[in-house]
Amino acid sequence: MLPSVSAAEEYVRPPPRPPVVIVEHDKPASHPQQLHISTVGASSMRISWVTEDRSAQSVVDYGISPGKYTASETGYHTTYQFLSYKSGAIHHVTIGPLEPSTTYYYRCGKAGDEFSLRTPPATLPIEFIIIGDVGQTGWTASTLSHIGAAGYDILLLPGDLSYADTRQELWDLWGRLVQPLASSRPWMVTAGNHERETLREPKLRRFVAYNSRWRMPHEESGSRSNLYYSFDAAAGAVHVVMLGSYTEFEEGSEQHAWLERDLAAVDRRRTPWLVVLMHVPWYSTNRSHQGEGESMRRAMERLLYKAHVDVVFAAHIHAYERFTRIFDNEADSQGPMYITIGDGGNSNAHKFIGDHKSAHLSMFREASFGHGLLRIVNETSAVWTWHSNDDEYTTIRDEVWLKSLASAESALPTNAGRHTEEL
Ligand SMILES: [Fe+2]
Repeated sequence: MLPSVSAAEEYVRPPPRPPVVIVEHDKPASHPQQLHISTVGASSMRISWVTEDRSAQSVVDYGISPGKYTASETGYHTTYQFLSYKSGAIHHVTIGPLEPSTTYYYRCGKAGDEFSLRTPPATLPIEFIIIGDVGQTGWTASTLSHIGAAGYDILLLPGDLSYADTRQELWDLWGRLVQPLASSRPWMVTAGNHERETLREPKLRRFVAYNSRWRMPHEESGSRSNLYYSFDAAAGAVHVVMLGSYTEFEEGSEQHAWLERDLAAVDRRRTPWLVVLMHVPWYSTNRSHQGEGESMRRAMERLLYKAHVDVVFAAHIHAYERFTRIFDNEADSQGPMYITIGDGGNSNAHKFIGDHKSAHLSMFREASFGHGLLRIVNETSAVWTWHSNDDEYTTIRDEVWLKSLASAESALPTNAGRHTEEL
């Protein structure tokens, strides 16, 4: 019998914090801002940025020493309009091939400051930071400061980025807020409900700002939509699947067929770790958004189970919750572990349901802010830690060791002194 979470263990979340005030971009219009990077294929990186000047060059100069650029790549820019808002030029340039675990120095558009990035390792171990429902509040700033100190390799964001919600200037502010982190490590994102930005305006395309600004490697993974894609890390030791909760997912849909193909192509002898992210959780005991993930779960859960997915991350609920391994509402040692990590910083309070039908599957839950770190140690072992924002500090409140479902059963040591489990 698995332990359930009692009401006594529930945590009173800290009060919301006001929006962060960001200093406006005070450089010339040609200067790059809102830089972020994302992996493309085995050894390339997409550099994305915005210039107010729509005639600025889409070029990146780079090299392994500061100020010495030995290579240069040219890309393209796109723009969009949302009601009266006209975006700047949104540039995307792919650089590479790049060496793994290497720091590169780069400059965008032959103007502005030099930035640096570190490429992910080509072997295990590898570290992923995971945050969802980020927003731009004081708590977001707190979470980002903790992540900045974490020294990770790749950040995964399962939806709800800026909370612009049609106010397009908030996308620009958010781009500046995350730039110090997102310009130096790949940020791989998938969309949430706050990226849809629908109005009763037939001419407005859903996700237009998100798709223009946060281009992900969907073509490289055989997807025709930026709303779902996959990529490999650590030279294929980890396969990460990013699903779209707000595009069609039923059997017969393009996303469903793509997921089936994508999972079928994973060779677990070469890829011991299989990780899936989406915005809306399939399992949650939180009062917020109850049942919203159920139709997607019914459409896709069996595909994930058959592929022996190790862990599924979702967001949407502004809290943290970790479940045991599950298949079809039952504990199942061959099913994925489910984690909700929607506690990035946006300000909403939520309560858990003590007698929820899934409460016996819920291992740990807490309605505070924070981030998660998935450290894949080797082919068989990984450790997940949840870092709660404790005022200005961060505290590991939850920890669990995972064994790859591609490997044989074996016990791993657990750490004492905090909430620690082994699955
Ligand atoms: Fe959401």
